[in-house]
Amino acid sequence: MQHLIPIASGKGGVGKTLLAANLGIALAQQKKTVVLVDLDLGGSNLHTVLGIRNRHTGIGHFIYKQAESLEQLLVETEQRQLYFIPGDGLFSGTANLPYYRKLAIIRQLQELPADFVILDLGSGSSYNTIDLFLTSPSGLIVTTPDTTAILNAYSFLKSSMIRLLQRSFPARSEERRIVQDFLQQKVEGEDRDIHTVVKEIRTLHPESGAAAADALETFRPRVVMNMGRTAQDIRLGSRLRHVARSNLKTDLEFIAYLPQDDLAGRGALERSPTMHRYPDSAYAQAVRKCAARLIQEPSPRMPKLYPENEDLQELAEDFEVEAR
Ligand SMILES: Nc1ncnc2c1ncn2[C@@H]1O[C@H](COP(=O)(O)OP(=O)(O)OP(=O)(O)O)[C@@H](O)[C@H]1O
Ligand SMILES: [Mg+2]
Repeated sequence: MQHLIPIASGKGGVGKTLLAANLGIALAQQKKTVVLVDLDLGGSNLHTVLGIRNRHTGIGHFIYKQAESLEQLLVETEQRQLYFIPGDGLFSGTANLPYYRKLAIIRQLQELPADFVILDLGSGSSYNTIDLFLTSPSGLIVTTPDTTAILNAYSFLKSSMIRLLQRSFPARSEERRIVQDFLQQKVEGEDRDIHTVVKEIRTLHPESGAAAADALETFRPRVVMNMGRTAQDIRLGSRLRHVARSNLKTDLEFIAYLPQDDLAGRGALERSPTMHRYPDSAYAQAVRKCAARLIQEPSPRMPKLYPENEDLQELAEDFEVEAR
């Protein structure tokens, strides 16, 4: 079975791309077939970390329908069994990914012939990123041990859960409207959270309400603490876990603790990934452990999600794409 591993973060610059590249290599070294996909639209730099020249066509060609499939865009890498789909400059990161292209990308990602498909996403909670993150119930959220990164990781988790709840119901359904009303009326501190809303929906619509509760239950993102230095970091990590449990009723699993390591970034600067150049570095060793855990505890499938309402703006953007 193929596993999608989206890698996201609330705050930028926390080490997603470096992790994606080195984790891909570590998994391939464990004899898994891996595809790394650069989905940081507008900010793609995974090729640099892998030491690949930016002369291949990438995901923009699929978005603009110049390539028929994602498989067509696969590039071989120095590492056996590791393939790469570049992001590219064609697509501006400020533009919203056209809705139907996003669905097409997700469908094709799920069909790529590999054991693991790793998605390097942009930072923050845009719908593009969240919808790509929701391709797996146990994607990775990367954070560093500083308060802003931790708070942003929490916001990202919360936004993902809200989007997951909305997309558990068909567009224009009564259930979807109840969620929408809740979001509009929500006053901070009010004693009504997404779980009480699910309960309310369940009393009105037992079947679809139970399915949504299941989807939320299955959703268990895994956290990577990167650039760790001290024991104090562990306390910050526990705080994130505590807030997620008490406010969102989600048990976060910490899947890796990656140390701050000068050799980690140096590999990227030298255009040769850390895992190849400095295989004995503390960073490489920690990433290998993370890979081993992913192999041991692969993620379950994501429950079916319905499309979001295609709003007029997105349709207009689709039109612009067609017109290019
Ligand atoms: N464990 C680490 N030790 C030392 N440096 C690190 C570590 N992890 C990442 N870095 C460095 O931090 C910087 C940011 O890393 P990276 O580009 O992977 O972050 P990102 O989350 O992908 O950023 P963006 O949000 O811009 O996509 C890079 O210079 C990288 O080499
Ligand atoms: Mg990045």
